[in-house]
Amino acid sequence: MAHIIVVGNEKGGSGKSTTSMHLATALARMGHKVGGLDLDLRQRSFGRYVENRRAYMAREGLDLPTPDYRELPEADAAHLAPGENPYDHRLSTAVADLDQVCDFVIIDCPGSHTRLSQVAHSLADTLITPLNDSFIDFDLLARIDPETSKVTGPSIYSEMVWSARQLRARAGLKPIDWIVLRNRMGAQQAHNKRKVGAALDQLSKRIGFRVAPGFSERVIFRELFPRGMTLLDLRDLGVENLNISNVAARQELRDLVKTLELPGVTVDF
Ligand SMILES: Nc1ncnc2c1ncn2[C@@H]1O[C@H](COP(=O)(O)OP(=O)(O)OP(=O)(O)O)[C@@H](O)[C@H]1O
Ligand SMILES: [Mg+2]
Repeated sequence: MAHIIVVGNEKGGSGKSTTSMHLATALARMGHKVGGLDLDLRQRSFGRYVENRRAYMAREGLDLPTPDYRELPEADAAHLAPGENPYDHRLSTAVADLDQVCDFVIIDCPGSHTRLSQVAHSLADTLITPLNDSFIDFDLLARIDPETSKVTGPSIYSEMVWSARQLRARAGLKPIDWIVLRNRMGAQQAHNKRKVGAALDQLSKRIGFRVAPGFSERVIFRELFPRGMTLLDLRDLGVENLNISNVAARQELRDLVKTLELPGVTVDF
């Protein structure tokens, strides 16, 4: 059975699609069979990323390890059980198909609360939540006291994860391993970084997630999209010497994959 990795956060623009593509490529490059689904049926950033990759490889005659990205199949009314939600059916059909042929299925969620995203969270063996290093983004995880910075209670997104966890427990499935990934960290914002870090540490114990070291703000995470490439593909693009920022970015990706502790994965890139 494939291990399901869901990348989710109801906050838009936190880095879900970027993380999905980099993780999918990293696992594919290490020889694992990786499937991909994008539940943002309108933007399809992860889907577009993989399409760009295939087009670029065809143009350049390259054959690089690439996730097996699939569209959600349309729901055929004849196959719906009475009362079954068509979106649930589309998602479970797509996951069941990939499950047959993949070691990992990576599901990129939209930056909003949708039925598809909610169901996907209950399928997660591993949940990665990228989070911009800001208290505005933190607010979807928990509320904090402005004077003391103490966490006063969980917020909408953690409550959604909580109900996904309950659903899995009732179905006898293993608990979700939830990892919060700090993204777009700046070199200059030491004070904010420390405060967000402290709040995350406090919250992680309370609601049960692990904190991954995270990605810094780096241009390499965004400039390769039109070609569908990632920072792990730079050598295949003819870049002989990685600059310091690219080397550091690679290390950040390596640290993330290590932190995930995925079954059967030994990090070697
Ligand atoms: N570490 C990073 N450094 C620099 N830019 C980044 C980084 N991570 C993401 N970005 C940029 O931030 C923007 C949002 O990233 P992305 O599209 O991956 O987020 P998302 O969570 O998938 O958004 P949405 O909620 O709209 O689906 C993009 O322009 C992306 O290129
Ligand atoms: Mg996205």
